[in-house]
Amino acid sequence: MDVFRVTGNGPLKGTIEVGGAKNAALPILAASLLTEETVRLENVPDLSDIRFMVEIMRHVGARVESPEPGVWEVTAAQLTHVAPYELVRKMRASVCLLGPLVGRLRRAEVSIPGGCVIGPRPIDLHLKGLAKLNCKVSIDSGYVHVDASDICGGPIFLGGRSGSTVTGTANIAMAAVLAPGTTRIECAACEPEVVDLCNLLVKMGAHIEGIGSPELTIHGVEKLHGCKHSVIADRIEAGTFIAAAAITRGDVEVKGIAPNLLGAFLDKLEEAGLPMEKKTDSIRVLPYDHSLRPVDVITLPHPGFPTDLQAQLCALMTQTEGLSIITERIYPNRFMHVPELQRMGADIAIEGPSAIIKGASALSGAPVMASDLRASAALILAAMAAQGETWIQRIYHLDRGYERFENKLASLGARIDRLSDKEMPKELRQE
Ligand code: EPZ
Repeated sequence: MDVFRVTGNGPLKGTIEVGGAKNAALPILAASLLTEETVRLENVPDLSDIRFMVEIMRHVGARVESPEPGVWEVTAAQLTHVAPYELVRKMRASVCLLGPLVGRLRRAEVSIPGGCVIGPRPIDLHLKGLAKLNCKVSIDSGYVHVDASDICGGPIFLGGRSGSTVTGTANIAMAAVLAPGTTRIECAACEPEVVDLCNLLVKMGAHIEGIGSPELTIHGVEKLHGCKHSVIADRIEAGTFIAAAAITRGDVEVKGIAPNLLGAFLDKLEEAGLPMEKKTDSIRVLPYDHSLRPVDVITLPHPGFPTDLQAQLCALMTQTEGLSIITERIYPNRFMHVPELQRMGADIAIEGPSAIIKGASALSGAPVMASDLRASAALILAAMAAQGETWIQRIYHLDRGYERFENKLASLGARIDRLSDKEMPKELRQE
């Protein structure tokens, strides 16, 4: 397995281009199953999660090809309706197959995805939504069985205990676009990735009103057709690079991202006193020699502060004088990065759903373990600001959501190498 060796190397400098959004590309790939015509997708990031989704789509019968890097062409002429456990368990976002299989075939059998380290990942709202579309939904031997022979549109309130559901909204929208009648989804997710999915569906011929608002109205149509679509920029990758520039006090321009996709995140960084220049399609972090101010953040559904940037902010706030409080309202256990940051010298206490970060701490390199996608990114940020060398194991978590992350950081001056774990000093290895 691969590991990263990172050595603190001072401020990052330069320009970095943001890639396509993983969390838009995954439901959009699934949505391309809704037509038998070819859908051409561009700006798709090269990630292991994307490759898992392609594998499952091929399993259900779609022809999925990549004529050039970043481009995928999907032709789902004939489909079967079963997505098996051995494939679904590799990536929980494969639950996004439910909606398209129901919409296109009027039936689906999809293995229930497992949880993950950031917490339980229930799909009760997805199933509630399908039931509200007059589908017969049952669970048997770890699979969701859906009989949608009498599917029809209707009113659905899709909010749960933590508010809206991103992939739940995606699934219900993808089932409803081909369902007779009108579907009104209340408490729909407003994430930019859901907006991008809806924009793709409209390009395919769907009738959707209220895109980007918590109320989506979908008028079902008979068929959808092929189209071409470029996936939006990854705001979480962009935010991660912004945090990397900030924690190293660097001068970095993050290009290909509209600042309005990161409203809550940039607002908090401005409150902390981070100097930034925002343009239509880029955000530049400027050097600073003062200490940033501590912040108090609660993660919320969009447009609130994104949970996917919580770990990165946590790492940054270890370098700030004073007490910062970060409360996780989406995934209360999403603090697997904290014990690893503590190994590097961070002073963080977990109180229920909150991390209380006492800064500033001098971080020192140490062998640490990645646990999930965004926690891995947080450890790299801390390692770049630490004195000495940090070895990060299990970086396959990172490869799920960041394309060539070490190359992009190295192009900004970071000292980061991808090595085999065999090259790691034996005494540092944690099995
Ligand atoms: C999406 O996951 C993202 N993944 C996650 O990104 C992201 O953290 C999350 O949205 C929140 O923004 C993809 O888009 C592939 P949810 P999703 O359904 O759709 C509860 C990353 O790092 N809930 O919006 O699975 C749930 O437990 C990943 O890129 C129910 O209770 O998240 C959570 O507390 C991690 N019942 C909250 O809602 C349900 O049926 C939000 O979950 C569904 C969700």
